[in-house]
Amino acid sequence: MQKVLEDYIRMCYDGFLQGWHERNGGNLTYRMRPEEVEDCRSLFSQSRHMELPVDVSALAGEYFISTGSGRFMRNVPLAPQENIGIIRIDDDGRGYEILWGLENGARPTSELPSHLMNHIARIQVTDGRCHVIYHAHPANITALSYTIEPDARVLSRILWQSETECAVVFPEGVGILDWMIPGGTDIAVETSRLIRTYPAVVWAFHGIFGSGETFDETFGLVHTIEKAAEIYLKAKGAGIIRTISDEQLRILAKAFGVHINEDFLS
Ligand code: 13P
Ligand code: ZN
Repeated sequence: MQKVLEDYIRMCYDGFLQGWHERNGGNLTYRMRPEEVEDCRSLFSQSRHMELPVDVSALAGEYFISTGSGRFMRNVPLAPQENIGIIRIDDDGRGYEILWGLENGARPTSELPSHLMNHIARIQVTDGRCHVIYHAHPANITALSYTIEPDARVLSRILWQSETECAVVFPEGVGILDWMIPGGTDIAVETSRLIRTYPAVVWAFHGIFGSGETFDETFGLVHTIEKAAEIYLKAKGAGIIRTISDEQLRILAKAFGVHINEDFLS
């Protein structure tokens, strides 16, 4: 199998093994590099056209691998051609063709508008380096969203204070969007606005969107955030009597050569 598909499938199943993908929960899109498209071209055997509710002309002609709507991450390695697919965005950015996979009438994830708008936002702020957008339903970060106001400063400080590596992994902080109906254009617009500033955005009472250059980087980002949320909830349950200070966060950022978001420090 093509390496890009192998790597994509591994990430889907890794997320399932973490417990982040109950039933059809979560979805993954990957913007293919030209050489990966060529590598997969022999697979392209169909052309089903679909409309998009949002204008993604900034992605015209781009190829994406997407999980299928209603498909289970758990089943991706067993039958990739039924559970994931490759699409090409139309030249006018108002629809796409399904070129491979998503067999038996499957469609790409219902969160495709959020994924594509997040890709556009992250491509712009990373000079084109971002290729991966990942949505998961990890239990701890979702639980944490019930304990705070939907405020990126509050959330980011909690996460930075809950595990020393956090400020190095996401010095910009993590965004949070208050509850909205998933699967539509409105949540796509709001999420893509936040993901310009933060590499990951929590959906309150739902889950998280993470972005990155590679599968490893994106999975690692969500993994780090989720682990920090788990530590925070455990420490909160046991009773927090002290934490990492703002001064220590500044020293850490300096030592690792990252620009920590000063707006979130006192
Ligand atoms: P899909 O099955 O359409 O990908 O939706 C799952 C999900 O997590 C919605 O937010
Ligand atoms: Zn979801």
